[in-house]
Order: sequence, then C-alpha cells, then structure tokens
Amino acid sequence: MTIDPTIYKQRRARLLEKMQRGIAIVPTAPEVARNGDTHYGYRYDSNFYYLSGFIEPEAVLVLVASPEKNGGERAILFCREKNPEREVWDGFRVGPDAAKEQYGFDATYPIAQLDDKLSELMGNQPVLFYPVGHDTAWDQRILKLRGEVQAKVRSGIRAPNEIHDVRTLLNEMRLFKDEHELSIMRRAAAISCQAHRRAMQFTRPGQFEYQLEAEFLHEFCRHGARHPAYPSIVAGGANACVLHYVGNNARLKDGDLLLIDAGCELDGYASDITRTFPVNGRFLPAQKDVYELVLAAQTAAIAAARPGNTWNAPHDAALRVLAQGFIDLKLCRGSVDSVLESESYKRFYMHRTGHWLGMDVHDVGDYKTGDDWRKLQTGMVFTVEPGCYIRPADDVPLALWNIGIRIEDDVAITELGNEVLTDAAPKSVADIEELILP
Ligand code: GLY
Ligand code: MN
Ligand code: MN
Repeated sequence: MTIDPTIYKQRRARLLEKMQRGIAIVPTAPEVARNGDTHYGYRYDSNFYYLSGFIEPEAVLVLVASPEKNGGERAILFCREKNPEREVWDGFRVGPDAAKEQYGFDATYPIAQLDDKLSELMGNQPVLFYPVGHDTAWDQRILKLRGEVQAKVRSGIRAPNEIHDVRTLLNEMRLFKDEHELSIMRRAAAISCQAHRRAMQFTRPGQFEYQLEAEFLHEFCRHGARHPAYPSIVAGGANACVLHYVGNNARLKDGDLLLIDAGCELDGYASDITRTFPVNGRFLPAQKDVYELVLAAQTAAIAAARPGNTWNAPHDAALRVLAQGFIDLKLCRGSVDSVLESESYKRFYMHRTGHWLGMDVHDVGDYKTGDDWRKLQTGMVFTVEPGCYIRPADDVPLALWNIGIRIEDDVAITELGNEVLTDAAPKSVADIEELILP
C-alpha cells in the first residue's frame, strides 16, 4: 500500500508546535487475545494512527520538540523488524527501513530498542507528554524509564519534571476534521447509507434480526469497510426501547417497527446512522404519529447545527419539539416549559441528541469551554439523533406501547451551515414506504 505521508507530517508538526518543548510518546494499541491462537480483529490506536498513518501493531511514535538534543530527529517511529519466518505466518511487515521512507519519519528503530532509546531521548527533556492513565502497563513502563533517567542525575542528566496528557492537545486537533478526513467520512457515510437502503429492501415479517445485521456486514465489507464502527443494533418492536440492545436474535413481527443503528468504519473513520421503519413496509397511524414527531425534532436540531450556535443548540431545539409532541400524544402533561423544566420528557427521551464523530464513534473533544457549551465551528462533525422510547404503562395510551424510534444522521459544520453526510438513507415516511414496498 502506498500512502501519502504529507498529512501525517503536517499533523505531527502541529502537535510539536502545540507542545513547544519536551517529548511525546504515543503507542499504538496492543493486540488482544480472544482464545487459543486467535486474536480479536486488530484495531490501531486512533491517536497513533492520526499522527502516523501506520497500521501495524507493536509500534510507538516519539516526537521530540527540542530536537537539538538528539541530532535533529523530531519524528521517530519504533516498529517491528522484518522477519521472513513470522511473515510466512502472519503476513507482511513494513520494517523500520521502509517505514522511514514511506511514512516520512526522521528516524525509525526496531521496537526491541524502545526502552533503551527512550531513556536516552527523555534525558534533559523538561516535559513528557503521553496518554496518561490510558493503559496501566504503559503508565508503569514510562514511569520506570523516567526513574532510570533520574538515576543518571550524577552524570548531569535530568529527567522530565512535568508530565502532561498528550490527549489534551490531540483531542482538540482531532475535533476539527480536515478535508482528507471529511472525504473519508463522506465515503463511510455513503456506504452505511447504502447498507440501510439494502436492509429496508430485505426486511420481511418472520425474519430474525441477525439476518438484517448480516445484510449490513455484507454491504460494508463489499465496499472495503471491513468492520462496523460499533456493534450493530437491530431491534424489532419492544427491543427498540432498549437503548443498547445488541442481542439481535428475535423474530421480526408483522406490524412492528424495526430500529437499526448501524454504521461502518472506513480507513479508521466511523459513520453512525439510525433508521426506524415498519417491518411490513407500512406505518400504522400511531407509529406514524410518533415517527413524524421524532423526524420534526431531528429537522429542528439539524437546522440549529450551524457555526456560532452552541453545541447544545441542536439538543435544545429537539427537546422543544419533542416536549410539545409528548403533550399532544398524552405522554406528558403541562406546558412545554414545565415539561422541559421538570424533565418529565426524560421518561421517553433519556439520552442526548448527539456526540462528536470521527475516528471513534463517540469521538474525542470537549463539549464545554469552562462552564459554557462550546460554539460550533467549521470542521466539527457530530451526530443528530433524537428518539422516543415508550414502555408499556397504565398512564400511556395503549396504541403507543412498545414504540421505539430513533433517527440519526451525521452532520458536518460548514461555513454556511452544515452538510448532512448521511442524506442518502431515506427517512421521510413516503420515501421509506416507497423503498420497502414500491
Ligand atoms: N451507535 C451509538 C450511538 O448512536 O451513539
Ligand atoms: Mn450515535
Ligand atoms: Mn448510533
């Protein structure tokens, strides 16, 4: 695979600028054993990949902001050595020499030299940045190495005095997606939309939820998105009222709704889409009432997603529409303001209206600056996903029992407003019914 190292070099340069001084250590994720000789599918660490583009396990990126102390090397990769025997069993390894050329590092070393080199590189650096507390084994390893450097004090070498979490800097960088990232996210979104369309066309009463899950995996994989970005939720009827339902093993009933929350990961970037539609292709009147309400709440929330508004504006907009709707449907009593004030809506809508989206499905980045919700800015990407989940209860109209609906899209803030990346998955009642039963 040939990669263009330019964007990764630029990101490393930006992080170095933010660090100002010291050294940063960013390890990739470990492989995790499943059982016997099998591992869980490998997924690199998002921060490591963001800065390197490197996808092999057993690799560590080191960035040095004061490189005059180590011969001018600023970006250093430690990775697995070439090993013809292991490559017969496990496949190709880039190896340090080719990694230097192809990925644009100043220096590369075999991973086996990491500890020795690190205690050299840490010497006389004032600050140490790494993902503090992310992985206990790394915490211990790094503190032990720092201790070894400290023991050299009589040779005139000082250990870093300050330790900072490198993620404070990286999270803020990752919150603003560049054009390269947006183009991958558009493609991930398009594949997931295609999968939702396919699922709508394949759904019939009597099928099992996992059979629809299979249609998603099929569509993701055949477009090169080898994995879902999170476990797919395929929830028929009452199962849709379980927010994190992943059993996916019930039979779909005629007359029920089906909620599917599924999105692929492509080249390290997530998509996250929910659609809810009738198993038999036609909404019942009560289902349609609740569906139109959630759709109206989502429309209002998306309209509020524009630069200058706060992160909370879409949530507030959705809540206002839902609160009025819950009163109209006889789910809540009182005025819109009193429903909002008392939070009685939470019985039917208990989650927030979205989250940052990027390499991680619930992506990194602060939602507040100090005590205030942060302002939306160009390049931020997040989900807009209002819902309504109605469990059976004596004070709830019978026709609404067990209706669970969520509509979720991925939205990027642009200069003029927003771009809905997931527009190609149908969501109006007419478009859904037409696709399922033309
Ligand atoms: N699929 C996870 C979420 O919607 O947040
Ligand atoms: Mn989501
Ligand atoms: Mn979702």
